[in-house]
Amino acid sequence: MIISILRSETNTHQNYRLPAGEIPLLSALVYIKETQDATLTFSAGCRASVCGTCAVRVNRREELACSYKVKPGDVIEPLQYHSVLRDLKVDKNKAQETLKKATTWLQKFQEAPLTHEDEKRTEKQTDCILCDSCYSACPVFAVNPDFLGPFALTRAYRYSEDKREGDAKTIIDNVQTNGVWDCTLCGECTAVCPKGIDPKMDITMLRGTSLQHGHQDPSFASQNFGGPDFGGGGFGFDPNGGF
Ligand code: SF4
Ligand code: SF4
Ligand code: FES
Repeated sequence: MIISILRSETNTHQNYRLPAGEIPLLSALVYIKETQDATLTFSAGCRASVCGTCAVRVNRREELACSYKVKPGDVIEPLQYHSVLRDLKVDKNKAQETLKKATTWLQKFQEAPLTHEDEKRTEKQTDCILCDSCYSACPVFAVNPDFLGPFALTRAYRYSEDKREGDAKTIIDNVQTNGVWDCTLCGECTAVCPKGIDPKMDITMLRGTSLQHGHQDPSFASQNFGGPDFGGGGFGFDPNGGF
């Protein structure tokens, strides 16, 4: 079978021939490197869907190379919105800086008994392997490179919901700018996550918590619901005017 890989040096897709059979994409990349082109560059670690280093795009969808079974005609490209270091190897530093910006850790420990239900509410987000697949799939980065993005927001949700967090407000405050309100809730992040995490749902929940902490959707706040509007805009509601 033949697959195609985007090579960074020429910025063109190059075809490679593989033996027939169902093998993981990562094994195919190793085979190509050993038998056809030693310069092909990619990242890998655990080979078991645990370390998150091997994520690439296959036919424009994010996949872990160590778990995806390669098919004839597949087109392999690096993750989007990352600087390409070479071929399929990308620089993840900028994406993972979002964890710092969103302050995704316990701010102030407080003693609190945890029920099984409490643990269940936040344990799934802990499975994140920082593969950056959701970051690559998120369309907001095409228009806002400063967006905090799905995995940082899902981790912010995890810590803000932890009953042992004595200062959830700091986390909530830190995800207001380029954060919860910038997400379009398209669900692409949830669709590609190899660990079954649901950042879209977590961001929706973070919006609710944000409202409880006194924040509001800036696009809603910027609507003109203020004074009378005889020109056809807004609702013409004047909070000082009575009826
Ligand atoms: S749901 Fe939000 S965070 Fe997830 S991909 Fe869509 S815009 Fe990005
Ligand atoms: S949330 Fe899922 S897709 Fe996003 S970085 Fe974590 S494991 Fe990868
Ligand atoms: S090599 Fe570790 S997740 Fe694929």
